Amino acid sequence: MDGNGRWAQRRGVPRAVGHREGVQALKRTVEAAPQFGIRCLTVYGFSTENWNRPLDEVSDLMGLVRAYVRSDLERMVRENVRLRVIGQREGVPDDILELIDDAEARTAGNDRFLLQVAFNYGARADITEAMRRLHADMKAGVIDEITDAAISQRLSTCEAPPLDLIIRTSGEVRLSNFLLWEAAYAELVFQEVLWPDYGPEALSAALEAFRCRQRRFGARPGPMRAAG
Ligand code: IPE
Ligand code: MG
Repeated sequence: MDGNGRWAQRRGVPRAVGHREGVQALKRTVEAAPQFGIRCLTVYGFSTENWNRPLDEVSDLMGLVRAYVRSDLERMVRENVRLRVIGQREGVPDDILELIDDAEARTAGNDRFLLQVAFNYGARADITEAMRRLHADMKAGVIDEITDAAISQRLSTCEAPPLDLIIRTSGEVRLSNFLLWEAAYAELVFQEVLWPDYGPEALSAALEAFRCRQRRFGARPGPMRAAG
């Protein structure tokens, strides 16, 4: 979700307004996603690097998380949406942690759609943490082999289906420490639209681009070889 600042700058309004509009875009997009057949959406809300922004902007962003969870939790409960917040808890204000715990608990049994909010998230930190757990589990004799699956199962995204598509808005062409492990065979779509202008139309365009891709997963194009 990139481009809130530039959206605001172009309109000559404070960045906070761009972030607020960004939340509206998030609501529109989350609402539209299941109608496109999407089962899981992971949004990058706040990275571990975003703490380096000026204090007032960080506090604006924190305020928006509070507002978003408070205003949308009932809808998620009603619409069978499961919310999961992925990222490090250290550094996150206590009242936000409480809100998150409550929202996750209240939506834990929902299974129509999984919304993962990456908050205080960094993919390298997530992989590092998975490695720590792996090491601890090996020492404890829980596992005796390091495998691709053993690593995946210890990432914060372990509940999500395989990642098919990553979309980045605002014309930036990089992953910025988002879902690095999970992105191995994901399609990447970069769109010029600034995040506050995002919604069903832009999502539909991204999905159209995705549909045109030929996914080979490292194999050669052509008829599938028989299994075994
Ligand atoms: C994305 O918009 C919102 C967050 C990082 C939370 P930006 O704030 O990065 O907007 P630009 O990149 O300055 O336009
Ligand atoms: Mg940005």
